[in-house]
Amino acid sequence: MAAPTTTATVSSALAALLLCAAAFLAADAASGARHDPKAKAKPAATGAVLESACGNITTSHYKGPGLTVDFCTRALYPETRAMSASHPRDLALVAIDLARSAAEDAGAVVGYELRGPVADDDQADWSKDTALTLRYCRIDYWAVARTARVCRAMVREYDPWVEGHTSGNLLPYTYLECADRMMDAALSCWNHITFDGEVKKGVWEEVNAAASWANLARAMVGQMLGIPDDDGPY
Ligand SMILES: *[C@@H]1O[C@H](CO)[C@@H](O)[C@H](O)[C@H]1NC(C)=O
Repeated sequence: MAAPTTTATVSSALAALLLCAAAFLAADAASGARHDPKAKAKPAATGAVLESACGNITTSHYKGPGLTVDFCTRALYPETRAMSASHPRDLALVAIDLARSAAEDAGAVVGYELRGPVADDDQADWSKDTALTLRYCRIDYWAVARTARVCRAMVREYDPWVEGHTSGNLLPYTYLECADRMMDAALSCWNHITFDGEVKKGVWEEVNAAASWANLARAMVGQMLGIPDDDGPY
């Protein structure tokens, strides 16, 4: 008596199973229709993308302070957003934000120095050269911070999981150009201050940090695009 019921249960369970399998196959076929790197990138452990991306940068072509794997790791490790990154694009966003805030800090100390040497100093005022350097630096850091907004918006819209003409992404060099503008502006002040012993001591820490962060942002945009770090000039 119980036999037909069991058979019915088994066959409906089997039918459900087959339906599931069919759904899976359909889903597979759909995702197989285009290249889908997401499937590969998904199971990354916490901090794995960060470690890999930092490991892929080299010191070769950054301007001003050399960019090292060690700096990259130490700089991004405390950032929760960086630890949970699933693609270098996420790291590029973090680096751009931090480059912007470093430039704002540097702009603030430069602006402070521009008001003149500390009162108990022998110097009455900065030399004309130093005053000019500080004025240019203020413009440079303004440019870094403003450009960072533009780069951030572009990078945020970049979709690393699609490829080709219909992806909606800009051409790769477009992202690099934006990051280069940040890097070059930060470098400009760094270069001037490097040779200005008069004011260097008071601003060097912030000036150096701003250049390092801009280099890191540039590096991460390169990683985001999958352009090997030693691949310049493009
Ligand atoms: C680092 O480089 C390797 C080899 O090119 C690549 O497979 C890997 O995806 C890169 N890491 C990141 C986070 O892009």
